[in-house]
Amino acid sequence: MDLKKTVRDIDIDNKRVLVRVDFNVPLSDGRVADDTRIRAALPTINFLRLHNARVILISHLGRPRGVEMNLCMDPVGDRLSELLDAPVMKLDECTGPDVESRLDGLAPGEVALLENCRFTPLEKENDPGWARKLAGLADVYVNDAFGTVHRAHASTAGVAAYLPAVAGLLVERELEHLSRLTQNPEHPFVAILGGVKVSDKIGVIDRFMEFADAILIGGAMCFGFLKAQGIDVGASRVEKETVGAAAAALEKAKGSKCRILLPVDFVAAGSFDPGARASVAAADQIPAGWMGLDIGPATIAAFVTEIKTARTIFWNGPMGAFEMDLFAAGTRAVAEAVASANALTVTGGGDTVAAVNKFGVAGRIDHVSTGGGAAMEFLEGKELPGISALADK
Ligand code: 3PG
Repeated sequence: MDLKKTVRDIDIDNKRVLVRVDFNVPLSDGRVADDTRIRAALPTINFLRLHNARVILISHLGRPRGVEMNLCMDPVGDRLSELLDAPVMKLDECTGPDVESRLDGLAPGEVALLENCRFTPLEKENDPGWARKLAGLADVYVNDAFGTVHRAHASTAGVAAYLPAVAGLLVERELEHLSRLTQNPEHPFVAILGGVKVSDKIGVIDRFMEFADAILIGGAMCFGFLKAQGIDVGASRVEKETVGAAAAALEKAKGSKCRILLPVDFVAAGSFDPGARASVAAADQIPAGWMGLDIGPATIAAFVTEIKTARTIFWNGPMGAFEMDLFAAGTRAVAEAVASANALTVTGGGDTVAAVNKFGVAGRIDHVSTGGGAAMEFLEGKELPGISALADK
């Protein structure tokens, strides 16, 4: 990927700067439940403020169909204001005369936050007219929304056609760290994949097979792989349409130097609740009507052995339903092993970030990416529209 200009390469002093951030954060009871992504944007926001820029932030929140009051940006603005220890001018729209007149009152070094940009379908349609209106609010465009750079939307890509467009410091840092995984990584390279959707990860499995030494697959996605081998997985969650893709990946692995490790046992239960009766079952012995909800102790031991010998580790996706203590041991063991490994360690994806936070190991991971899908698409070698749209160095 060509190097892109950043906020350090462009005159931003006293300019109006439109910054696309990824403030797509979890909310609970109308408050921000995890502010990792807001904190991650602070270096760019503070850099711009120090240069007396007028900072105009824009983000999506969730996947609204039209205006949904529970997905307004107000709680995000409140949390940002606390973190900056400064007022944030929250606006109720993204464009229009009211927005323009309020932004006219924004002083150098002050911060405004526009409303959820997905309240209009024009955002995802990458509508040029709407992109031009957004551009009209500012002199410079900065994309610092790493988690959303794989989307070709008006605020992530379209707007860059109408303004000088550069990367923010988070995007710069993410690209630097993720590039270290693909450019001459130290071996053994171990990729750990989990979570639910095989379809989201099959492309990256293909790519990893070109340079990884081992791919450890846990979480719900492993059941498609077991099923592809003809193993009866009981009532475990299988994304049926991806069993074929899993079979193809296993076939490809036979001709490659990369080993794919699947769970050999599970913590299984008949229902997903904290009071469920759970027991360990071999991968091919899950009782009828029961489902695997976490990897079992033999699998943990095998995965931890691989992680301990690795020199480069990428981890995306939990090993089980870790939000419930009964099914958290596998994800906890992997989190602790990754954090203790003598390796370059990178994790990505919303659930994985939540896991490393929950198990208190985030500070011992070299890079906790704010991108899930975006990090995967980068590693897959796909073009990222939000990056391509920015000025080259
Ligand atoms: C994410 O959470 O992965 C990003 O914010 C992108 O969100 P999206 O998948 O709704 O485009």
